[in-house]
Amino acid sequence: MPDFTPAVAAIHQKGYFIGEQFWPASEALAMAEACQALKLQSRFRPACIGRAQSKQRHTAIRSDLICWLDEPLPAPLRHYLDALETYRQHVNRELLLGLDHVEVHAAYYPPGAHYDKHLDRHRDDDARTLTAILYLNPDWQHSDGGLLEIDLPDGSQARVEPRLGTFVSFLSAEFVHAVQPTQRDRLALTGWYRRRGRPF
Ligand code: OGA
Ligand code: MN
Repeated sequence: MPDFTPAVAAIHQKGYFIGEQFWPASEALAMAEACQALKLQSRFRPACIGRAQSKQRHTAIRSDLICWLDEPLPAPLRHYLDALETYRQHVNRELLLGLDHVEVHAAYYPPGAHYDKHLDRHRDDDARTLTAILYLNPDWQHSDGGLLEIDLPDGSQARVEPRLGTFVSFLSAEFVHAVQPTQRDRLALTGWYRRRGRPF
């Protein structure tokens, strides 16, 4: 498990964190293998846009396949959820965001897949507060595409290659982002911390 101190400090200072080689490679590789096993078991489903009744599949907007991480889980993915729990406690202690729990899916982008510009906070549900993404792709080349592009307040963009062990986190309501079309299989664990419902 990494030391989350730099991530928490960056979220505090600027609202987002990009950590290359942040996660121990051996742990990330074990997670990648566990996800491959889920893929072989046909556990991935086309992703949808929106929630509940408004749920629709729009391959023009996003064309990845997802698998929610629900128990029982293989050990490396169980371990990832444990690490995200440590991050949650650290963030709550330092930033008082009141994060309650995290929901995580593995996302698989086949060649050609992408995800248009969007915010992770749904229009009809403002509970998603902090996004956390871990990339699981060894030997990623620049020509493989699949960049995460995050729009920054100064009008520039942060561009992130989805390399094994890169960890990205940002305030879900504040950063518009997109996934550029990928040229090869692209795997990530994407999670959202939800905050406790606020009393009226
Ligand atoms: C998402 C998302 C980014 C990525 O699933 O909401 O923005 O780089 N993913 O996979
Ligand atoms: Mn997103």
